[in-house]
Amino acid sequence: MAGGVSHDFNNLLTVILGQADLSLSETDPSDKLHKRLKFIHQAAASAKGVTRQLLAYARKQTIAPKLLNLNDSIDGMIKMLCRLIGEEVELVLKSDPDLWTINFDTTQLDQILVNLCINAKDAFAGIGKIVIETKNMTLDNPISTDQEEFLSGEYVLLSVGDDGCGMDNATMVKIFEPFFTTKPMYQGTGLGLSTVYGIIKQNNGFINIDSELGKGTTFEIYIPRHMGEADEIKAGDTTKELQ
Ligand SMILES: Nc1ncnc2c1ncn2[C@@H]1O[C@H](COP(=O)(O)OP(=O)(O)OP(=O)(O)O)[C@@H](O)[C@H]1O
Ligand SMILES: [Mg+2]
Repeated sequence: MAGGVSHDFNNLLTVILGQADLSLSETDPSDKLHKRLKFIHQAAASAKGVTRQLLAYARKQTIAPKLLNLNDSIDGMIKMLCRLIGEEVELVLKSDPDLWTINFDTTQLDQILVNLCINAKDAFAGIGKIVIETKNMTLDNPISTDQEEFLSGEYVLLSVGDDGCGMDNATMVKIFEPFFTTKPMYQGTGLGLSTVYGIIKQNNGFINIDSELGKGTTFEIYIPRHMGEADEIKAGDTTKELQ
């Protein structure tokens, strides 16, 4: 997804650079306009550098799903998550000890956890609490939300909740759009949740959001249970990979 977006973005930047180049050649260097055009040219050129990095990153990402227990993956990430969110934010873990197995790429799981926890941390003015919860969930009937339909089936649920600023409806309907951000310039790219969304769709899962202005937000990620015959994970398999 990042690859696709940066590719389109790169094409647009080529147009901006080309037009800026032409206009520069048509204006006198002593002209005020010439200097402004130079700024535009420089900014577009450095934006091209960023898209090049994104494209390289997207190409490097090969996906290797494997059977794992979500609790093990979270355990392996906890230290790093605590460092990311800082000392003022409390992190509470509520794991279901009998969690079903999922077939998932560990790097993608890490990306989901990091993005959701950083967003939660950003939703606090200072002190706050983030709760990460795992549990098994059976949907007997499909559920329709505003955004999508959740198919019936067995899922492992990962929920990340915060008691931060929450969101209004106008924000909530846009949060999965690439580049949508409410953060100040240079503080958010608006790519975090669109990445999470892409990963979940790639894995046939669903995302439910519960948010209220001033009260907090909970993201619930539904990951399909692995239904193959080998429902056993070799001991230490996942933790080894994450350390
Ligand atoms: N836990 C949350 N509480 C309140 N608002 C949130 C939360 N998570 C996401 N949002 C809203 O959704 C927007 C989009 O989130 P997303 O992660 O895609 O981008 P970002 O955090 O702004 O930037 P980036 O993740 O690229 O640094 C945020 O700017 C914010 O307005
Ligand atoms: Mg984010």
